[in-house]
Amino acid sequence: MCSLSIALMMLQFQKILVLNLPFRTDRRDAMTLAAATSNIQLEFVDGVTGDSIRQSAYPPPEENIKLPVGIRGSWRTHMNALQRVVEQNLTTALIFEDDVDWDVRVRANLQRFALASRFLTENKEILSSSPKYSLENRPNPETPETAFHILSENGITEKLPSMPLSSVYQKPHRYPQPHQNEPSSPYGDPTEWDVLWIGHCGAGFPRYSTTSRKTDVTTSNVLLTLHNDKTVPIGKYLKAHPFQGDTDPLASAYPSHTRIYHRGSGGVLCTVGYAVSQRGARRLLHQFGIKGWNGIFDSELGRWCAAEDEKTKVANGSKTAKTQAPILRRRPQKPRERVCLTSQPPIFAHHHPMDGESDIGGLGGGYATKYETKYLRYSVRMNLEKIVREDKELVDQWPDE
Ligand SMILES: *[C@@H]1O[C@H](CO)[C@@H](O)[C@H](O)[C@H]1NC(C)=O
Ligand SMILES: *[C@@H]1O[C@H](CO)[C@@H](O)[C@H](O)[C@H]1NC(C)=O
Repeated sequence: MCSLSIALMMLQFQKILVLNLPFRTDRRDAMTLAAATSNIQLEFVDGVTGDSIRQSAYPPPEENIKLPVGIRGSWRTHMNALQRVVEQNLTTALIFEDDVDWDVRVRANLQRFALASRFLTENKEILSSSPKYSLENRPNPETPETAFHILSENGITEKLPSMPLSSVYQKPHRYPQPHQNEPSSPYGDPTEWDVLWIGHCGAGFPRYSTTSRKTDVTTSNVLLTLHNDKTVPIGKYLKAHPFQGDTDPLASAYPSHTRIYHRGSGGVLCTVGYAVSQRGARRLLHQFGIKGWNGIFDSELGRWCAAEDEKTKVANGSKTAKTQAPILRRRPQKPRERVCLTSQPPIFAHHHPMDGESDIGGLGGGYATKYETKYLRYSVRMNLEKIVREDKELVDQWPDE
């Protein structure tokens, strides 16, 4: 009973870490209050500023030291959070930036996400060759112009192979029960996934995978759909920020009030909220703390999830593989695939306060001068005053018309 109530407070992650520059006490106040009123327990990770990082502490390449100070501070703060996850050997952790917001119905959203992520991380079938699944191909409205530019290769698919979450699970309103003797996470075996990117400001549809045939539908390219999700605003409000011209491709690809769940291989922007498994934390800390880092962290993570670096290696690597094979004299072991999952619209989003400033290096900061949160209808931050007054009439930012 006790562990169950703790797990509920944690939203079913072992820890929730919040990145916060200690001098932004205003943000820590707001974050603490929003979490407390949602019965969520947090742990703060002190943010660092870019100019406090010694030159010798940067991974290659050398020019990353010339990046703006905010970007460098943000990178290091994310690394410190990942380092904590690895050091404490946490099975799973949710990492928040301190301007994160959520809908008051966050637990229901996460329960449904868990059903989707369990299927998407653990199912290894070729779905298109099994009669069990009712797949429907929808046209993909993405174009090279509207898709994310952080990815170099243009792997935009023609079709979106989709199937309802309800066709996979009979009762999509509860957390799935972990199987016996497995590391327990309702989001799927944490040795099978790296990143659950559930707080963002836009995501692309899955791209073609290098590990399966283009014509096969697998969990790497399928989109699970949840129709009539009352937490999803109608299409015309699906925008990541006020200056965005067109709505997100989600709005034209699926009926109103549809939430989708899929691999994050088509680019994702903003790291306002993402979960890592121990496996994911180790991989990311190795990649960006040690091996190499050279850009704003969300783009770097987006490229990592899309395996951009692996794609270049595959393209140039055939020669090296051949010369090494006789020396090694064993079957080359395929590295385990990177698994990043996302939901559209996101479950966590940026809240832009009045001043619209962000000290954590451009991540969601700078462009908004209005007090708002995109994507979240019953936003906790927008309703915070009512919530602390125990007013039951909360404001829906985008009622149906
Ligand atoms: C980390 O956790 C895993 C899984 O619970 C366990 O098998 C392993 O021994 C732990 N490692 C350390 C160093 O505690
Ligand atoms: C792979 O090839 C591309 C294009 O020729 C080149 O830009 C890149 O540096 C190469 N990468 C490696 C690791 O050799």
